[in-house]
Amino acid sequence: MSLRIDKMLANMGYGTRKEVKKLLKSGVVKIDDVIVKDPKTQVDPTKQVVTVWGEEVEYKEFIYLMMNKPPGVISATEDMVEETVIDLLEEEDRIFEPFPVGRLDKDTEGLLLITNDGQLAHQLLSPKKHVPKTYFAIIDGEVTEADVEAFRRGVILDDGYETKPAELAILKSGIRSDVEVIITEGKFHQIKRMFQAVGKRVIYLKRIQMGPLSLDPSLELGEYRELTDEEVECLKNFSLFDTKKGNL
Ligand code: URA
Repeated sequence: MSLRIDKMLANMGYGTRKEVKKLLKSGVVKIDDVIVKDPKTQVDPTKQVVTVWGEEVEYKEFIYLMMNKPPGVISATEDMVEETVIDLLEEEDRIFEPFPVGRLDKDTEGLLLITNDGQLAHQLLSPKKHVPKTYFAIIDGEVTEADVEAFRRGVILDDGYETKPAELAILKSGIRSDVEVIITEGKFHQIKRMFQAVGKRVIYLKRIQMGPLSLDPSLELGEYRELTDEEVECLKNFSLFDTKKGNL
């Protein structure tokens, strides 16, 4: 794996490509103890040691972040009008050009994975993988055993689509009900439309799990953190296996 030294240093937060060019010109950058000044110099950060002012630059290609998405921001990288989840990141994380893996509605809260690892994102989003996603929801109306059964069998959405089996657990039933729902697909507004199909309305929605990854309860709304090495490994292993159709 090799890339230009100016790109590597810019990625690692040493300034813009222009600023990095000046840094190189000043002779403070070395690759394996040899001063390099040409921004086009190729470097393999997995095999060569790069130093700036004598300090070693630790390079990473991928970044994996877990965010507790707040309501009011959209799950996109850029938008002319709306604030996006990427706008909430620190500059030192944004330079990796990460993107959200899948979408949560503007008013939905909770677990959002943000990464620049396109391969992992692709695997997790593949409809073939049936990655289970768990949501906590508050429903306007009394959720009943009949709804649990309907979700288990699959409900017909407003566009005629029949959903795959979903697991619905009633945590508290009343004129407002607290529930947990596990789905293995990701149709547009799926949870809201599934409740609409049984004559009920979602008034609060929060994702709490995606595959093996659980939302860290210590993250406040809008906060995020890097995944631990174990979490990354777990996600990667998980993404390599086919989750059986309907097998929650
Ligand atoms: N289902 C929804 O209705 N909205 C979301 O944001 C996620 C799942």
